[in-house]
Amino acid sequence: MLYIYHFSIAFAFVYILRFFQQRFSSLFALRHVPGPKSSSWVWGEEKVLYYNTPGALYLDWHRTYGNVVKFTGAFGHQLLSVTDPHAISFILGEGAYQFPKPKGVRAWFRMLLGEGILWVEGKEAHEKQRRSVGPALSVQSARNLTPVFYENATKMVSQWHKLLDAQHSDEIVIEMTNWAGRFALDTVGRATLSYDFDCLRGQPHALAETLDGLTNHEKSLTSFYMKALFWLLPSILHLGKKGQMIRKTRKELGDLATDILKDAEAVSDPNSKTLMSLMRMILNYSRIITSLTIIYTVRADKATAAVRMDEEQVAAQMRTIISAGYEPVSATIAWLFFELSMSPEWQQAIREEVSTAGDPTFDELNNAYPLLDAFFLETLRLHPPVLENHHEAAETISIPLSEPVAGSGDLHLVIPKGTIISLPVNVIQKDKSTWGFDADDFRPERWLHRGTRTSRELLAFSVGPRGCLGRNFAAAEIKALTVTLLRHFAFSCPHEIEAFQSFVIRPRVKGEGSSSLPLTVRRTL
Ligand code: HEM
Repeated sequence: MLYIYHFSIAFAFVYILRFFQQRFSSLFALRHVPGPKSSSWVWGEEKVLYYNTPGALYLDWHRTYGNVVKFTGAFGHQLLSVTDPHAISFILGEGAYQFPKPKGVRAWFRMLLGEGILWVEGKEAHEKQRRSVGPALSVQSARNLTPVFYENATKMVSQWHKLLDAQHSDEIVIEMTNWAGRFALDTVGRATLSYDFDCLRGQPHALAETLDGLTNHEKSLTSFYMKALFWLLPSILHLGKKGQMIRKTRKELGDLATDILKDAEAVSDPNSKTLMSLMRMILNYSRIITSLTIIYTVRADKATAAVRMDEEQVAAQMRTIISAGYEPVSATIAWLFFELSMSPEWQQAIREEVSTAGDPTFDELNNAYPLLDAFFLETLRLHPPVLENHHEAAETISIPLSEPVAGSGDLHLVIPKGTIISLPVNVIQKDKSTWGFDADDFRPERWLHRGTRTSRELLAFSVGPRGCLGRNFAAAEIKALTVTLLRHFAFSCPHEIEAFQSFVIRPRVKGEGSSSLPLTVRRTL
């Protein structure tokens, strides 16, 4: 007993020593980096960040201090916010595996989704997972799945017509965040898992409610403590009501994944590339290999070669894809329709642009409708659902800069091991030197003259080896829905809308507790 007591004291001592040692070496190494004065000794900037409009402080800081800003988190730990183009290219590109996700973020993904692609780190392990999931989300897969996107969009249209008919009216108020969520969940379910959540026809699926319940709520003190402390103490995620909710969501996602996997016919079509069939294939081969206890050398298919997974790993991948395909897509749909509601001219112009006979193909959605494309990109520029891209320096490392920090004259910055870095996507996508003096304004026309833009592209999907695998899928489903809805309805919004931080950034009526976007929808057909 005494032994355990001494061991615990020693362990706590070493931990505290390491914390302070890291803190002081970080303070010293980053002493010349400018940034705001800490507003609280205990919480640093965490409190003001948590209670302010999402992304607003980062915007102020970078416009005041430049491309690299130092600020303080809870108990004085140093964080960097970086918008320097060379530094970003390095962190997300060549240096991607030296800047893994911070431990707290990984703990969140592990607890909620399991050891899937959003959690995994290390070049080899990550590339393996990317090879296992990638073919299901490739351009060709998105092309093949486009009819599913239209089927779901059409279901939504007929449900709205039913609601209008029931009220004997041509105008109705629709809660867009709710319908956007139903569309996103049904679409990711059918297209990747061959599973119909059937939220568009019936009620929202219990899973959507659980996912929303976890993140889409008024700001609470417990959530704040968790958000402020999980960088330093990832295990805090297990505590209290929030911990229970994370476990509940994981269980529901896991049960569903297991059921879907069990119910699915043994899909052995080697040409099928849906996530479901790839996962079944990997699982079947892994089982055979395990039972034969030989080294895995079977070449099932280029996509699955050298990938072996057990049921839990497959379930982790399925949970990850459901979550990745649900949250940012539903938020983007909501923001896009909010912006359409604010702009009757653009609404009409896009409606006319897409008023061709028949549903546009995947390639047409990509290339044939410049106004639709410009509107989609501008929505992602001003409303990136993933506001910050977080990383942690795995080692002390020197990163390139395009301009020196605070007159140091050096085009490199040495980042101490363990420093947490935020890449604030909203600031990068509003940078006036790239996007012009009107960078803060929603102006889709800027995308119609691409030649005038400089080198920076959107970061909303991130870039590099860890960039979003579902971007083609997302663009096609969102555009297919937009085309279909605009052919039937006109939209307006009588409310003042603000950005609200849930897991992703969603719209809400100003001052309300959780995300909400009541749109007035009028029949045009
Ligand atoms: C508008 C919609 C979407 C946005 C804005 C978006 C954004 C992002 C971002 C920023 C990342 C990088 C996350 C990080 O590094 O921490 C990411 C990763 C990922 N996204 Fe998306 N995403 C969207 C839709 C989708 C869809 C529909 C799917 C799949 C059905 C998907 C699957 C993935 C996967 C698998 C990754 C992990 C990639 C990796 O780590 O290698 N995403 N997404």
